[in-house]
Amino acid sequence: MEVRVEREHDVDNWEEVILIYNAALKQISIKLEILNDEFQRVHKYNPIEHIKSRIKTSESIVKKLRRYGYESTITNMVNKVNDIAGIRVICSFTSDIHRIADMISRQADIRILGVKDYLKEPKENGYKSYHLLVSVPVYLSNRIVDTKVEIQIRTVAMDFWASLEHKIHYKFEGNAPAHIEAELTECAKMVSELDNKMLSLNNEILSLEEEN
Ligand code: GTP
Ligand code: MG
Repeated sequence: MEVRVEREHDVDNWEEVILIYNAALKQISIKLEILNDEFQRVHKYNPIEHIKSRIKTSESIVKKLRRYGYESTITNMVNKVNDIAGIRVICSFTSDIHRIADMISRQADIRILGVKDYLKEPKENGYKSYHLLVSVPVYLSNRIVDTKVEIQIRTVAMDFWASLEHKIHYKFEGNAPAHIEAELTECAKMVSELDNKMLSLNNEILSLEEEN
């Protein structure tokens, strides 16, 4: 991997950049864990199934910059690539998605930089997920660095679909046979139906519990 640096000391700075993104990921993870714990205490259930986080590899950062037509400098990485720090929140029911997004968005130290609602408007291939691009302050010894984190929120079923779609997309480099693409889109419909049914079943169970 070749990263061009603008100034000599930027070589050292890459380590600092990664440290900062890691800190931002930790902060968002803790916030989500706290919300989940509180939710468990109040409503007796966990809206979050699990959380996955990752720092984008320098290879894929460079690849993305090249795709955008930018040089591989640290400044471009930080300014142009929004998903260096990424966190994926997997929940049980579609109703949990906006609930989690709202709880995170309301926090005073979080700034919302962008929202992509692929639930309201799924992608043509059937991809569904709720994306929040946020900025969170990271406190270092001598300064505060506002750091971008991409949060993807989706159900277990949506995540199952996205994993397979990603694998197929990667394997065929975006040119999967037509019948595979068609079946994937068909699966996306089944995922939506399943999510709807599970939600209404759960709501019914909850209302029965309330009656008793
Ligand atoms: P990139 O796709 O990352 O270049 O950025 P973008 O500006 O298009 O952002 P978008 O919010 O559409 O996608 C960001 C991330 O969402 C991707 O890196 C994937 O993790 C996920 N994603 C978006 N679209 C798809 C999709 O069609 N299939 C799968 N499996 N994941 C997707
Ligand atoms: Mg994309």
